Amino acid sequence: MGLIHHNSLLKTGVQRFDDDHLQLVTITNQLHDAIKAGFDLQTVQRILQELAVFAEHHFKAEEELLAHHDYPDLEQHRLAHQQIMTRLEQLRHDPEQAHGSIIMQFLLDWLVNHTKNADTMYGPFLNRRGLF
Ligand SMILES: [Fe+2]
Ligand SMILES: [Fe+2]
Repeated sequence: MGLIHHNSLLKTGVQRFDDDHLQLVTITNQLHDAIKAGFDLQTVQRILQELAVFAEHHFKAEEELLAHHDYPDLEQHRLAHQQIMTRLEQLRHDPEQAHGSIIMQFLLDWLVNHTKNADTMYGPFLNRRGLF
């Protein structure tokens, strides 16, 4: 049973990013489940790696599209992505930290809150430019 329900994410209205967000939630839930199931370090590391690669790809895609359309809050958005990546990198280098749920909770909150709050802000902006 995953920690984050897919329905807890609000849609941005841009299909490819909504698909990415579902994938991010799926991987994060896998990570949570692996930790709960007994913390097999190798498995946790593998999933953290997968999450970091996917998050980086996704953040870059958002930033490139937003930059292309001169999104006014791009710098703030980019900063939020960097903070999530920094936290992810910390976990990757010291995966035992993930066992302590405080840092894991930070990561989950950031992922969900960022998607819920910041990402849904760019939805109408991109929609107005014909991107769905
Ligand atoms: Fe996003
Ligand atoms: Fe974002």
